[in-house]
Amino acid sequence: MFIELLTRRTSVRSFTDDTLTRDEIDALVEAGLRSPSSRRIDPWEFVVVTEKDTLHGLAEAKPGAEFLAGAAVAIAVIADTTMTDVWVEDCSIAASNIWLAATDLGLGACWAQVRNRSHSDSLSAGEYVRQLLAIPDRYAVEAVMGIGRPAPSDAPAPRRAPDRTKIHRERFGNGPTQEPDQ
Ligand SMILES: Cc1cc2nc3c(=O)[nH]c(=O)nc-3n(C[C@H](O)[C@H](O)[C@H](O)COP(=O)(O)O)c2cc1C
Repeated sequence: MFIELLTRRTSVRSFTDDTLTRDEIDALVEAGLRSPSSRRIDPWEFVVVTEKDTLHGLAEAKPGAEFLAGAAVAIAVIADTTMTDVWVEDCSIAASNIWLAATDLGLGACWAQVRNRSHSDSLSAGEYVRQLLAIPDRYAVEAVMGIGRPAPSDAPAPRRAPDRTKIHRERFGNGPTQEPDQ
């Protein structure tokens, strides 16, 4: 069943105008909070945004974030970088779990990369989001997840078959661990 969930997960960037229920939003955040983290430090925090003006502001964080304007909720995945040197890994797992939880709930979601991205020549996307959401200096913004009910027009992208040439048997270069399905 988990593989089926992974197979269904895709990037959804077009949404209906429907809002999400409180229970749905709670479940999404719960998925982030229940993620594993190195040394169980849990450096993440989540800024949950549903106000339309702020969603539009987030959509301007950087090229490729435009879809956030149409999301019902955006969840900024941020980390207190003073807590651990592996906050990127920790936050990535949390963001991924939010994405999978959205899929499991029948919602559509997509990741907007913020870390290492630019808003303009003089402002990073992370700094832009921090200012917009009043996030203190010691936090970094890893990503903003945009989530909503998928627009009927947003036909899921055709799924690629898993690339089994990326699997190595015992030593690098030995080829896949199993033959592709017949
Ligand atoms: C780390 C990461 C960063 C991403 N950043 C963006 C982004 O900024 N904007 C966007 O529209 N999609 C973004 N995506 C979505 C990818 O483009 C998408 O996952 C990829 O094309 C594969 O498509 P699929 O999610 O439908 O399988 C990101 C995905 C990941 C995992």
